Amino acid sequence: MSSLFKTRRTVKPAFMDTTRELPLELLDQVLEDGHWAPTHGLTQPWRFHVFHGRAKLVELSEALQSIFRATVPVEAQDQGTRDKLIAYPQQSAAAIALLAHAPTASRIPEWEEVAATCCAAQNLMLSAHSHGLGSFWSTTPICTTPEFVRWLGADPESDRALGVVYLGWPKPAAKLPAAPRVPLAERTTWH
Ligand SMILES: Cc1cc2nc3c(=O)[nH]c(=O)nc-3n(C[C@H](O)[C@H](O)[C@H](O)COP(=O)(O)O)c2cc1C
Repeated sequence: MSSLFKTRRTVKPAFMDTTRELPLELLDQVLEDGHWAPTHGLTQPWRFHVFHGRAKLVELSEALQSIFRATVPVEAQDQGTRDKLIAYPQQSAAAIALLAHAPTASRIPEWEEVAATCCAAQNLMLSAHSHGLGSFWSTTPICTTPEFVRWLGADPESDRALGVVYLGWPKPAAKLPAAPRVPLAERTTWH
């Protein structure tokens, strides 16, 4: 059982096979698994904004670039970030922008809604992995801005952007970077 958790690795879009499509039924299944995350008060605060197929991913890439140009001072617009905003959506087969819906009037504090949405993100990534799909959670600052929330059609007063999960089939020979963990005992205190 632990192997599903231990063998999931971040697969950056550069390691995804752009020639392989992601069937809609499989994407639906991954979203359904994301939807079964735990949630205080059953508010189900995650909002999945899905981009599937080349045309939609190009739209996402163009929006991210345009927000970058509009919100980052010209002298701080670095080529590295620009390249990522172009490449990530264009090299993946689908992208799921994550919003946490946390209205101020709610009895559930915002941090709990953010936490529940992060649980949903992990569900998505483990579900993807269980089907052989690679995933990458990107929090490049542009995709956590209020401008991005607005572009998605939501209200930044109540919805917080937590980044984008990119999905795609790993290239057959992809050599993923190792991501070793420190011994569990260093992160655990038994009382
Ligand atoms: C909330 C969150 C945000 C992340 N944002 C980024 C990111 O913006 N860029 C990036 O390269 N990796 C990002 N990652 C992925 C981590 O780099 C990755 O999980 C880490 O290197 C461990 O590797 P693994 O996922 O293969 O276990 C993010 C992960 C999490 C949980």
